[in-house]
Amino acid sequence: MDVSKLMFREGLMEGERILVTGGGTGLGREMAEGFLKLGATVYICGRRQNKLDDTAAELMGLHGGKVVAHACDIRDPDAIHAMVDAIWADGGALTGVVNNAAGNFISRTEDLSVNGFNAIADIVMRGTFYVTLDIGKRLIAEKKRASFLSILTTWVWSGSAFVVPSAMSKTAINAMTQSLATEWGRYGLRFNAIAPGLFPTKGMSARLSPGGQGGNSKNDLNPMGRAGEMHELANLAVFLMGPGAEYVNGQTIAIDGAGYQANGGTFYPVLHALGDAEWDAMRAMIKGTNEKDKADRTTG
Ligand code: HXC
Repeated sequence: MDVSKLMFREGLMEGERILVTGGGTGLGREMAEGFLKLGATVYICGRRQNKLDDTAAELMGLHGGKVVAHACDIRDPDAIHAMVDAIWADGGALTGVVNNAAGNFISRTEDLSVNGFNAIADIVMRGTFYVTLDIGKRLIAEKKRASFLSILTTWVWSGSAFVVPSAMSKTAINAMTQSLATEWGRYGLRFNAIAPGLFPTKGMSARLSPGGQGGNSKNDLNPMGRAGEMHELANLAVFLMGPGAEYVNGQTIAIDGAGYQANGGTFYPVLHALGDAEWDAMRAMIKGTNEKDKADRTTG
């Protein structure tokens, strides 16, 4: 990310302690970099310790400050509890949580198994809730204020063909955002969400546009004719996580160049025309990526 494009003053996030789930790669890494650059202490978790360690070292090398990496599969509530114990022992309560970790792949729904559904729902819906619950309980008990931010998609408003488990799970987290914004607002805990459009990352492209032929990756379908740039996402995340706009609560904000208004931001326009052979080829490519990532993992 080009940090010179961050729109906030240096030091804005000093004293903030923020956990970014899935912070080793992709959008999580970029938001972590934005928080760090502005002075926050950042904790990142994911399933690959080596990847997390590399990211933490790289970010501290670039910007100084403190990034702590924890291998943790958010599908495992005990692992979350142990990680959050370690974070608390390292300097006390968190002031912010970014629920960014996700899993997704394009598939015709009739080709999904129960395991395939659960692989996504367990990360996106259940895992996000487990993280929020574990941390929320501690903050309530200690009477500490904090901001929670979940990374969703515009499918929470439109639904989305060919990514049904993700659309369902992210819609559930949209409901969590609105529900806890009201229920836990009185504890000083606020809940917002970002619905990013296309911000290309390696993990996403391999699973949502395998071989470059699928997905909603066509820039010409977007009114602005381009994908998002990482500093744009980071600026919105800082706005929602940093001090100064705490009255924003219970909102899900799209950052997608009006792709949602133009085309629903979904895969349907491109994918509905594909046949069996194309789907077979894409499934094989996605599974190749999954196996490669799995071989790298230290948890789960
Ligand atoms: C059909 C598939 C499949 C495919 C996996 N499965 N890929 N089924 N088509 N392409 C099935 C498997 O056959 C298996 O079911 C089940 O899913 C679990 O597969 P595993 O590989 O064992 O899963 P696991 O190792 O737990 O990995 C989880 C994962 C993987 C979700 C499948 O993709 C992952 O770890 N992803 C993390 C990174 C990621 O997805 N990034 C993209 C996020 S993009 P059976 O029945 O065979 O046992 C995003 C939104 C983008 O979130 C929004 C853009 C606008």
